[in-house]
Amino acid sequence: MIRLAIAGLGAVTQNIHLPAYAQIQDKLTLVGGCDVQPETRVLVTKSHPTLPLFENYEEMLRTAKPDVVAICTPPFLHREQCLTALRAGCHVFCEKPLAESLDEADVIITAAAAAGRQVVVNSQFPYMQIHLAAKARIGQPDFGRLLYLHATQTFRPTPQTEGTWRREMTRRLGFEFGVHVFELIRFFFDEDPVRLCAHMPNPVGSKSDVLNSVNIEFAGGRSASILLDRLSRGPERYLDLRLDGEHAAIATSIGGELGFEAGLHTRERKPFFAFNFVKGGKAVWQDGNRSRLLAQDGINPFASSTAYHLGGFITALAQNTLPRGTALDHRKTLALIFAAYDSAEQKRWVDLAPYLASGAKNTLAQP
Ligand SMILES: NC(=O)c1ccc[n+]([C@@H]2O[C@H](COP(=O)([O-])OP(=O)(O)OC[C@H]3O[C@@H](n4cnc5c(N)ncnc54)[C@H](O)[C@@H]3O)[C@@H](O)[C@H]2O)c1
Repeated sequence: MIRLAIAGLGAVTQNIHLPAYAQIQDKLTLVGGCDVQPETRVLVTKSHPTLPLFENYEEMLRTAKPDVVAICTPPFLHREQCLTALRAGCHVFCEKPLAESLDEADVIITAAAAAGRQVVVNSQFPYMQIHLAAKARIGQPDFGRLLYLHATQTFRPTPQTEGTWRREMTRRLGFEFGVHVFELIRFFFDEDPVRLCAHMPNPVGSKSDVLNSVNIEFAGGRSASILLDRLSRGPERYLDLRLDGEHAAIATSIGGELGFEAGLHTRERKPFFAFNFVKGGKAVWQDGNRSRLLAQDGINPFASSTAYHLGGFITALAQNTLPRGTALDHRKTLALIFAAYDSAEQKRWVDLAPYLASGAKNTLAQP
């Protein structure tokens, strides 16, 4: 049993981490939590009355003596809190994005190697059932190679979604949400891209970026495009991907859906009817107008994929093997994001090799 303590008890802890831990309670014991806000601690006490809660992070580490610390605070605190946890001899399960710059990420990676501890980042979207199922089809004879991927989000921010630290960020959309999309693109293509070009217009003059349009090229002409749109007044779509293979396509979407579709496929003059009910997300196999459901996620895919990812991390620690999603791996995702912001500012294509270069290596944890 791993002893786990949590720093930061806000939205991600309450909506994602605590439900995830409940799904893998045979693997971990929750030994403490800390938050600087008294009202947040009161909220967590209601659902976890026996969990020791602290105001101070260091005091929690000293008193609760966790094996793993989950860092669920805003990104500007991740570097310092990761380093403090490593100094205390803990492994770290840090919320995305790991750090606010590649230099900060390198400091964490170096400190983890020196301490003989693992830092894994909860960039968990690849571990949703829909994305695992899609990945499993890539390279199969009926799908072939993945040639092109398009990702799109249309989201209307509210005062709640932009509360506190998020509204202070100038690089908000690509850095804080887009990190999931860049991570998925790396997961599906399974190789480093060569260059990218980003356009991030801000016609409403808001402090944070509101529209990210990014084109990414891989060797041999394979490519991906991303459109993250917080300007549209149209219907919200949390995240839709379309993966174009040599012989078929796969469409994935996160977000509940209940609907009846009817219409006419004009080219074939054939009517169609479909009834859709999906709670958390779906992956659909497509071959022209023929389609079939490949996989679905439950009501909270963010929690179930976190449980999958953290469960894998705990197993890797027990077996002293390399976990997935290490800080060094996540650094490559951050590299694409920072390159995209540079590309948008400089209004040009950016070669990715200098961003992706890192002298560090993944190392196994010291028992
Ligand atoms: N993986 C995902 O799907 C996902 C989803 C949402 C958020 N996140 C990430 O989780 C992190 C937190 O986001 P959130 O939405 O929960 O933010 P939040 O503002 O709701 O919660 C952050 C909490 O940290 C607390 N805090 C601040 N300073 C602290 C300190 N020094 N010590 C202890 N606690 C402190 C705050 O009081 C707050 O309760 C961010 O990095 C965000 O990007 C990840």
